[in-house]
Amino acid sequence: MKLANQTVLVTGAAGNLGPYVISRLLDDGAEVIGTYLSDSDLNTDEYPEAVTYYQADLTDQVAVESLAETVNADHGGVDHIVGLAGGFSMGGIDDTDAAAFEAALSRHATTAFLTVRAFADQLDDRSGIVLFSSDRAIDATAGTLAYNVGKGAVRTLAESLNEELDARVNAVAPFLIDVPGNREAMPDADFSEWTAAEAVADEVLHQLTNEGVAGQTIRMTGGQPEVAT
Ligand SMILES: NC(=O)c1ccc[n+]([C@@H]2O[C@H](COP(=O)([O-])OP(=O)(O)OC[C@H]3O[C@@H](n4cnc5c(N)ncnc54)[C@H](OP(=O)(O)O)[C@@H]3O)[C@@H](O)[C@H]2O)c1
Repeated sequence: MKLANQTVLVTGAAGNLGPYVISRLLDDGAEVIGTYLSDSDLNTDEYPEAVTYYQADLTDQVAVESLAETVNADHGGVDHIVGLAGGFSMGGIDDTDAAAFEAALSRHATTAFLTVRAFADQLDDRSGIVLFSSDRAIDATAGTLAYNVGKGAVRTLAESLNEELDARVNAVAPFLIDVPGNREAMPDADFSEWTAAEAVADEVLHQLTNEGVAGQTIRMTGGQPEVAT
């Protein structure tokens, strides 16, 4: 258990992927601290004792700095960060105004940037940071313009932070993950073509714990036909 006695901050912990990643980290012995934005998303029944949750809007610098101070006081700092905060949005160029464009950049890149910035002094060269980009940032898809750009910014952020920090910084770039929210949104899709949430959680653990992996963005396109052949 490589994460035994180590503390992992997971942002966006109450989202679709959060429980899968948290479960994997707990199985590896980590202490997990989760952040969430909306009360309504938080299912504290799932891991009531093992996970400590804090509410914070991670686009708000003052709030993120306050969160870092509180976490440091309550837990003596964190060893690793997993940045799940984000969220999908549709819209091509005709449907994307300045506010929608900036909101996507803020939701994806600013949340990750401010989190790492506020917690950077709690990390060292044994620390891992995993940010969430998207395959759409690498192989752009029409109709999700602001999302693609936001996730592209996250990829560049991860590569840049990896050069600046002692910690290793990597990114995961999935296409569609098989999580409940996607099944509800696309009930007629072939779920077998999507990447299993457990496989994404395994990749997060790998990036956090493998000291040879730094500055990488790993595409996860699961069983999609174009990559399965
Ligand atoms: N699911 C997929 O197929 C897929 C594919 C590629 C990449 N990704 C990325 O992988 C990550 C995890 O996916 P997911 O399915 O778990 O996404 P999700 O269900 O949308 O969860 C993302 C979480 O981020 C939180 N968040 C958004 N803005 C925030 C802010 N300003 N401050 C703090 N928290 C904020 C959301 O909170 P609220 O709900 O309260 O707003 C939500 O709980 C996301 O970054 C997503 O974009 C997902």
